[in-house]
Amino acid sequence: MADPTALTDPASPLHVAIVMDGNGRWAKRRGMPRVFGHQAGLEATRRIVAAAHGQGIGWLTLYAFSTENWNRPASEVAELMSLPGRFFETDIGRLHREGVRVRVLGSREGLTPKLCGLIEDAEARTRGNTGLNLSIAFNYGGQADIVAAARAFAEAVAAGRAAPAQLDEAMFSHLLATRDLPPPDVIIRPSGEQRLSNFLLWEAAYAEFVFQDVLWPDYDADHLKAALQIFATRDRRYGALAPEDVLAAS
Ligand code: FPP
Repeated sequence: MADPTALTDPASPLHVAIVMDGNGRWAKRRGMPRVFGHQAGLEATRRIVAAAHGQGIGWLTLYAFSTENWNRPASEVAELMSLPGRFFETDIGRLHREGVRVRVLGSREGLTPKLCGLIEDAEARTRGNTGLNLSIAFNYGGQADIVAAARAFAEAVAAGRAAPAQLDEAMFSHLLATRDLPPPDVIIRPSGEQRLSNFLLWEAAYAEFVFQDVLWPDYDADHLKAALQIFATRDRRYGALAPEDVLAAS
């Protein structure tokens, strides 16, 4: 059931994307190994998926593992690799009942066959759902996705199926892993860091950014609501002028 205090005006974002950051620092502050932070981070992920429903968000995209995260110690990579499987094994039945549609963005290269199977099952099972669109960016990198799209178009040209002059922004967008998603309205990054870290590089062209000083394992529905309230104060012009400035200029 939707939260009656949720933002319902047009300033509400359709698509919220989050860089889930700060798990390691959260664990370190407690004198615990980093993997403990990732486990707590998974609990925060569960909380925020539930909160997104209540806030009336249509699309939620979460950055869970970047193409650069392979460079972490093997034990940490193994823990990070286990998280989506754990999430889908325990939560997919409930997510499906709640009408959530699940997508996983990113390369399947390097993932175990078991994890690939769980991802395929989650996507197939929820394909017909019309509630929250939940995308998990896993083994995802914005640059790698852009390169893959460019390569796909170059191959189409080489095979005579496309001509260079046909390529425009709309066509290029359709070659990306995010082809079925609207562009993000807001990208939220907790943990105090202020960068994109290779997340949704193309898609972020007109996204608003909200940076919050809270570590991901502590992130809750109130932090999400606060981020949406900050978003609602933003003046989005997409490179054009505000209506009052158009009148003043004429
Ligand atoms: C970055 O924090 C976080 C990650 C690399 C992993 C994020 C994953 C989750 C929160 C859970 C994933 C959930 C699903 C469903 C797959 P960091 O480790 O870089 O933190 P630090 O900057 O404090 O070191």
